[in-house]
Formats: sequence, C-alpha cells, structure tokens
Amino acid sequence: METLIPQAEKRIPTSYEDWTQRQCDWENAQEGRLSGYDCPACKNRGYVTVIVNGDLRQRTCACMPIRENLRRLKDSGLQDLVERYSFERYIAKEKWQQNTKAKAEHYAANHRGNWFFIGGQVGAGKTHLCTAIVCALIKEGKHAKYMMWREDITAIHARKYRADEYAEMLDLLKTVDVLYIDDFLKCGGGASVPSRDDLNVAHEIINRRYYNDTLLTIISSEYSIDDIMRFDAATGSRIIQRCNGNQVVIQQDENRNYRLSAESKNSEKGKKE
Ligand SMILES: Nc1ncnc2c1ncn2[C@@H]1O[C@H](COP(=O)(O)OP(=O)(O)O)[C@@H](O)[C@H]1O
Ligand SMILES: [Mg+2]
Ligand SMILES: [Zn+2]
Repeated sequence: METLIPQAEKRIPTSYEDWTQRQCDWENAQEGRLSGYDCPACKNRGYVTVIVNGDLRQRTCACMPIRENLRRLKDSGLQDLVERYSFERYIAKEKWQQNTKAKAEHYAANHRGNWFFIGGQVGAGKTHLCTAIVCALIKEGKHAKYMMWREDITAIHARKYRADEYAEMLDLLKTVDVLYIDDFLKCGGGASVPSRDDLNVAHEIINRRYYNDTLLTIISSEYSIDDIMRFDAATGSRIIQRCNGNQVVIQQDENRNYRLSAESKNSEKGKKE
C-alpha cells in the first residue's frame, strides 16, 4: 500500500523531538469519518493530536459540541426551519411586531426555567419566533422536540390500544428538556373546539411538565390563554403559572397575516428574480 507520509518525510528522524513532531503532523493529516459537519481543524476525526511536554496527546476537537448540537437539532424535528425562522429574519416594522419580537428575544436570553406562550392571529409569525427561541435553547445545549399538535395528537390517539408505543410517545413529550408544541389544541375535521380526548392528552403532558422545574415548554396556538382556560382550566392555569409573564397574544386581524402582506409578496418576488 502507498504510504501516506510525504516523500520529503521519508528521511530518518534526527531526534526524538523530530520523530514526535512528524508523528503528530502525520496523525493530523489523516481524514476522519465523522459526517454531518465538515471540520478543517480535525479533518472530521473528532480530535487533534498535540505535543504536551514532548509527548503525543489527543485533544477533543472544538467541533464535537457543534456536532452534538446539530444532532439535537435534527432530533428536534426543526432542522429544515432554522435558517428561515431566525430572529434576524423576523421583520418588525409595526409596533405589535416589535413588541412580540422583543418578548421572544427576551425569553430566549432570560428564560430562567419559565415557559413561553404565543397565541392569536394566523400567519403573524408565531411559529417563526418560537422556532428562533428553540434554536437558541438548543445552542445552550438542551435537547428539544418539535411537536406539531394536530399531526402528533392523531398519531397518539392511533396508539391508544398499543400501550407500549403510546407510553413511549408520551414519555418523550413529557420528559424532553424543551418541548415546542406548535398549533396547540388546533382541531381537525372542521371541529371548532378540541375533543375531550385531545384535552386529556394535553393535560397529561402539561401537568407532568408543570411539576418539573427544569423542563421548558414553548407553546404557539391560534387560541388565547383565555380560550384554553375555558376548554380546560387546569391546563390553562398551569401554562399561565409556568409562563410567569412570558406570554403574548396577537389580536385577530387579517392585516397581521404575513402571508398576505406586501413584505411577503416582495420577498417572494425577490426569490424568483
Ligand atoms: N415579521 C415577519 N418577518 C418575516 N417573516 C415573517 C414575519 N411574520 C411571519 N413571517 C413569515 O410568514 C410565514 C407565516 O408565519 P408563521 O410563523 O408560520 O405564522 P403563524 O405560526 O403565526 O401562523 C412564515 O414563512 C414566516 O417566516
Ligand atoms: Mg404556526
Ligand atoms: Zn473538528
């Protein structure tokens, strides 16, 4: 097999230090097999070889925490949204947008174990801002899970008579560091209020997380907290308590639907040009 040592290095080492240095350089020139992130420092080996007091040592490369965060992001289910749904990309021209963004940014930087709730108008950027929050929390090193209420609740009900699978699905939602529930209690099939079964599962998840101070829950919903209180006072009041002021409701107003706004049309136009 062809040797990987460059021709010029085939000379006999002149000293132990010389040999050590060459061994070190040779190891650092090897390509590793880690995937998902391309690191020039370790060539995807995950460690770099260094010389400490004349001896060779291996140090974990700085890319390892980045790899771990990327893996968490993938596990969270938010990977596709992170670039588009950042704080930087949330345009805050109107006063209500500035206030909403400020609340979300404040929470991301100072959550202190509290929860975050954003309710109200469709298309107003609720999912956008919550995604930006969850990304900030993942960067803190937390594990996160993205729950799309309507789809996931359907999958949960479908496992009602398969006890193991049902418990496994719910356990993750009850225990993950950060749970983002998008479109909380949104109903399917033209119903205008959530079913008793939906409310029971919601209560089971919220109640369990409520009693663990270290778990964070981020919730977006077309409903306001008052609506949720009317559906189920126990669930609603637990959310209010754990939010501890970190809640926003965007008043229903079609002008606040970004998908129908001039900015949105301009940016669509920009993409095509
Ligand atoms: N202020 C804003 N600046 C930039 N993009 C926005 C803004 N508000 C909403 N959007 C975009 O509009 C779309 C709808 O927003 P979304 O967060 O899904 O709304 P909601 O969850 O409130 O229904 C998304 O593509 C989002 O990125
Ligand atoms: Mg949404
Ligand atoms: Zn590296």
